[in-house]
Amino acid sequence: MGLIDKHALIEKNATLLLVGSLLVVTVGGIVEIAPLFYLDNTIEKVEGMRPYTPLELAGRNIYVREGCYLCHSQMIRPFRDEVERYGHYSLAAESMYDHPFQWGSKRTGPDLARVGDRYSNAWHVQHLADPRSVVPESVMPNYAFLKDTPIEVKDFSTHLIANRRVGVPYSDDMVANANADLMAQADPNADTTGLEKRYPKAKVGDFDGNPQQVTEMDALVAYLQMLGTLVDFKNYDEAAGYR
Ligand code: HEC
Repeated sequence: MGLIDKHALIEKNATLLLVGSLLVVTVGGIVEIAPLFYLDNTIEKVEGMRPYTPLELAGRNIYVREGCYLCHSQMIRPFRDEVERYGHYSLAAESMYDHPFQWGSKRTGPDLARVGDRYSNAWHVQHLADPRSVVPESVMPNYAFLKDTPIEVKDFSTHLIANRRVGVPYSDDMVANANADLMAQADPNADTTGLEKRYPKAKVGDFDGNPQQVTEMDALVAYLQMLGTLVDFKNYDEAAGYR
């Protein structure tokens, strides 16, 4: 029986064709899925990533609450036009502590994955309070009320614990100091040595221009200012052999 005849046999017998197709799909599926059971993590390890500070996490909550993701993505795709406009393309590791992630699917405004350090704190405060006072053609809503809303902290450590349950490596030390770290990061007079040791590269100081109280504006600006700033891309690209 030649190869053609054999094939004709399978093609003419529906049951045989079904069994054969099932076999092929099963083998293919197992080959793709089985290795994943033996890997702890499929995210490439990257130096510099750390969990959010309590203040950044509080800012991130405000970002989610206000629906900023409906107009802003946090995902720089590996295309030349995006990389030239926004900076190095996003790595999976950069959103591995995001629950839920903020990649977004709509860009009414620019991508924010690397907006950290691009503007001053004062620019952000002015822009969030009244976007059209700095970008006249902007369609972004005003968020002036954030300046007048003191941040509400009951027991922020529970929030860190919740994140820890889904895999964010918050240490016991970080959990124990959650409330203190949250307030200290936005207080220009606070001792922040412990905070900066727990969270390398954390930016400290008064973010909203009002040192009297810690507001939701402080938290949101602290979050925006850290976005995309943790990974040192010179080292990353050298290690990967890109430079
Ligand atoms: C209705 C859509 C919309 C919403 C909602 C929105 N933005 Fe924007 N955003 C824009 C547009 C459009 C721009 C570009 C014009 C400008 O700079 O105001 C922008 C610009 C920005 C910029 C400057 C980015 C850059 O690289 O120049 C930041 C930062 C920003 N938005 C943060 C936020 C935050 C934080 C929130 C939520 C509190 C938010 N936006 C909600 C539309 C929106």
